[in-house]
Amino acid sequence: MSQRTLVLLKPDTVRRGLVGEILGRFEAKGLSIVAMELRTIDGETADQHYAEHVERDFYPPLRTFVTSGPLVALVLEGDEAIEVVRALNGATDGRKAAPGTIRGDHSLSNRENLVHGSDSPESAEREIKIWFPDLP
Ligand code: PPS
Repeated sequence: MSQRTLVLLKPDTVRRGLVGEILGRFEAKGLSIVAMELRTIDGETADQHYAEHVERDFYPPLRTFVTSGPLVALVLEGDEAIEVVRALNGATDGRKAAPGTIRGDHSLSNRENLVHGSDSPESAEREIKIWFPDLP
C-alpha cells in the first residue's frame, strides 16, 4: 500500500555534508520525494514535532540539537514507505544500529542520529501537517 512519511535530515546531516548520501539511499530504494525544504526551526516547532517527548529527560538536549542549524524536511512516498524508511534509518541509537543502515554506517550517537522517520501512519499524518500544511 502506498504511504507517505515525514523524514528529517537533522542538522548533523547538513553539517556533515551527508544530505546527498542519505537522500541517495532513499531515492535508490525507489521512494519518491513529494516535498522537500531546507529549514531552520525554532523551539516551538520542535515542541510541536516532538509533542510526545517534551516531558522526557532527553528532550531539552534534543530540542537544542534540532534547532541548532538548518535541516532538510521532506515527504517521501512509496509502497510501505513508513516501515521502509525506518528500516533504512536503522535503530535509534547509532551505536547499536546495524551496519548497512544510515545510522549504522554514519552515526555513533542516540541524539545526533542523522535522520527522523515517522513511526506510524498516525504520526506521519500529524507530522506532514506540521511541516507541509499546504501539501495536497
Ligand atoms: S521512545 O522512548 O522509544 O519513545 O523514544 P525513541 O524513539 O527512542 O526516541 C525518540 C526521539 O528522541 C531522540 N532521543 C534522544 N535525543 C537526545 N538525547 C537522548 N538521550 C535521546 N534518546 C532518544 C531520538 O533520536 C528520537 O528522535 P527521532 O527524531 O524521533 O528519531
